[in-house]
Amino acid sequence: MATRLLFLHLLLLIVVLAAGSRAALASTTVKDTCAKAMAGGQHEGLTPFCVSSLEAAPGSDGADARGLAAIATNLTLANYTAAVATVKALQLRGGWSPAQRAALATCRTRYIEALNVVHSAVHALATRRARDYVADMTVVADAAADCDEAFRAGTTTGKEADGGGESSPMRKVDEDAINLTNVAMLIVTSLGE
Ligand SMILES: *[C@@H]1O[C@H](CO)[C@@H](O)[C@H](O)[C@H]1NC(C)=O
Ligand SMILES: *[C@@H]1O[C@H](CO)[C@@H](O)[C@H](O)[C@H]1NC(C)=O
Ligand SMILES: *[C@@H]1O[C@H](CO)[C@@H](O)[C@H](O)[C@H]1NC(C)=O
Repeated sequence: MATRLLFLHLLLLIVVLAAGSRAALASTTVKDTCAKAMAGGQHEGLTPFCVSSLEAAPGSDGADARGLAAIATNLTLANYTAAVATVKALQLRGGWSPAQRAALATCRTRYIEALNVVHSAVHALATRRARDYVADMTVVADAAADCDEAFRAGTTTGKEADGGGESSPMRKVDEDAINLTNVAMLIVTSLGE
């Protein structure tokens, strides 16, 4: 009985140790890739966002930088798909001012356009056309920025315009989209292909 218990404890210890070292290995690759890709530029502050986004993504543990580039691009695709759904849901919910309605319409158009371009970027990455990839992803990030801008320009006057964030129901969606796109782009650029 005692032997059996000891055996179980040992087994548990081995499982815990194995899981621990696997996790450590995984997050090292993610952290290294993010740190290297975001280093030395205006996007240094994106490193924590890069790490948390990629660590939450299935398949990121054990993936190399190229794999992480593909995962980040997939996350971007998922994010823009979700953004389109969010705009549609907000439009359906209603209760918006005319200016907000106009901004939501802009967001819908721009996110739908961007979704096609993310698909093109996925293809460019798969066929190792880094320059086309960056060109595509720049357009993609611009669309989210335009959505954000539509609310700033259209729904507030004067000081409130650069203040709150309250005025745009799309603020977090836009920021996530822009940040993810930049993360994916910077990782691809860091591959040096
Ligand atoms: C986007 O990244 C910036 C840092 O560049 C960070 O301040 C901001 O909180 C991020 N946005 C989101 C929604 O995580
Ligand atoms: C978009 O990506 C960010 C960062 O990975 C994540 O926190 C957020 O939940 C995603 N949004 C959607 C709607 O999937
Ligand atoms: C990206 O998404 C595509 C389509 O869902 C999938 O086939 C591919 O395995 C994904 N790649 C990575 C690296 O997650």
